[in-house]
Amino acid sequence: MTTLKLNYNVFTLDNRQLIPAGTIVSDDIVEELISTYQSPPHQSSVLLKHGSIKDDILLFFSQPPYNTILADEKRTASLLDLMEPVNAPYQILEIMDYFKLHDFYTYRHFIMVFALSTLLARDLMEDHNDLLAEVLAGPTHDLGKICVPLNILKKTDPLTRSERLFLEHHAIAGHVLLGYYLQDSKAFALKAARDHHERNDGSGYPCGTHLKDRMVEIVVVSDVYDALLSPRPYRRISYDNRTALEEITAMAKKGKLSWEIVQALVAVNRKDRPHYSDCTVSLEKRGTPPPDNMYGIIVDK
Ligand SMILES: [Fe+2]
Ligand SMILES: [Fe+2]
Repeated sequence: MTTLKLNYNVFTLDNRQLIPAGTIVSDDIVEELISTYQSPPHQSSVLLKHGSIKDDILLFFSQPPYNTILADEKRTASLLDLMEPVNAPYQILEIMDYFKLHDFYTYRHFIMVFALSTLLARDLMEDHNDLLAEVLAGPTHDLGKICVPLNILKKTDPLTRSERLFLEHHAIAGHVLLGYYLQDSKAFALKAARDHHERNDGSGYPCGTHLKDRMVEIVVVSDVYDALLSPRPYRRISYDNRTALEEITAMAKKGKLSWEIVQALVAVNRKDRPHYSDCTVSLEKRGTPPPDNMYGIIVDK
């Protein structure tokens, strides 16, 4: 595997430096960091019982396009049953509160990727034994964004090359932070945070590895889908559902995303809810992407 060198510091929400820039991140480094853990005894709480998370999820479910996916109460209730037991240490919940206050889009994204990846995992994962530990990857995949300045996260103009590099730091920063907060260098959420911008064809970052883990692939597809559907600082108007699904299908066709997971995503959007393996995905492109999309545009400074 390519070495993971930190370009920037990793620090906690209260500005305590955990690992300095320049360090090569490895399992041993994360283990060493865990051994320095000084916070009060490990306290955790059920995610859906924290703050207004459950009410916010129900509100977002009632709005397009999630209201197509979760059209009936029975479907919503069975998804919430799966999400209900998921616990997180209080520091992670504090980070969710921070984003709710300072960058509401990111907070919304955390909880919608949580819901969507849990829904897809239920349909796609044969072994449900590890599901509880694995679905924590949904709400925590972007946790490392606390190590990126808010003015970069919320910038509406194209990013400069160095700002783009700083933004990309969130994947490895999240990996380190999750090891520290979960007190476990092997927890699945660490892997998902590090790899959620990798692609199946090796064209992603931070390492350019080819995705192989199905649950990570589920987080990746949920992440791309929710990002397209949401208004973002760099794109005032979001994709409509049809165009977002077409965009994702095109990415799967190019080998960037898992075809089966995209099939499952299309299946949950269909009224008759076919089994994903019976779902034929159209390759036709009829939608129009929104105007003024600054994503991926870099200006050199
Ligand atoms: Fe991300
Ligand atoms: Fe994300």
